[in-house]
Amino acid sequence: REQASNHVHKLMDSYPGFPSPGILFRDLTPVFADPIAFRAVIDALMHDALTADGAADVVAIAGVEARGFLLAAAGAYSAGLGVVAVRKAGKLPGDVLAQSYDLEYGTAELELHEGRLPAGSRVLLVDDLLATGGTLAAAASLVERAGYVVAGIRIVLELDGLGGRDRLTGYDVQSIAHC
Ligand code: PRP
Ligand code: HPA
Repeated sequence: REQASNHVHKLMDSYPGFPSPGILFRDLTPVFADPIAFRAVIDALMHDALTADGAADVVAIAGVEARGFLLAAAGAYSAGLGVVAVRKAGKLPGDVLAQSYDLEYGTAELELHEGRLPAGSRVLLVDDLLATGGTLAAAASLVERAGYVVAGIRIVLELDGLGGRDRLTGYDVQSIAHC
């Protein structure tokens, strides 16, 4: 984890004023583009998943569109698990659950298919970044409304001071790096 954290701090970029004034945007794409750093990040995310109390029976990784997909797919493949996609509204066909939420810069809606996993399945939720926590709170609520259990929440970078963690109380939330 410490090694992965070092990669994140060394490689991430920061963009003041993107995508709107007042936001200091942390960009993790350089971390994902580096083969050593990407593997270290995925290994750290999954190591936590497999050793956290009670999380050994996780059956799927849920990733939040769009950057969470990169992590969920790689993590699930490495651990031999399935993937479920928590998507922005209007992308999934058939029976979906919807949850709206506030973003650091706007509002949005997430959706999740019903019935993709057996009721009571333990699902690990992953995303690249925790800011206000609106996205992951909405995603966690969708996982629960679909009848699954949130086994844990794993994040690459947690932005301290935006209250994100406070919106995820009751969950096992672990981040690789903070800033
Ligand atoms: C970003 C990021 C997280 C979320 C964090 O995604 O990838 O999912 O915002 O913000 P929060 O903690 O304040 O909710 P974004 O909605 O920009 O979507 P994208 O991955 O499709 O670019
Ligand atoms: N970087 C990337 N995604 C984000 C950020 C950020 O600083 N804030 C909210 N979503």
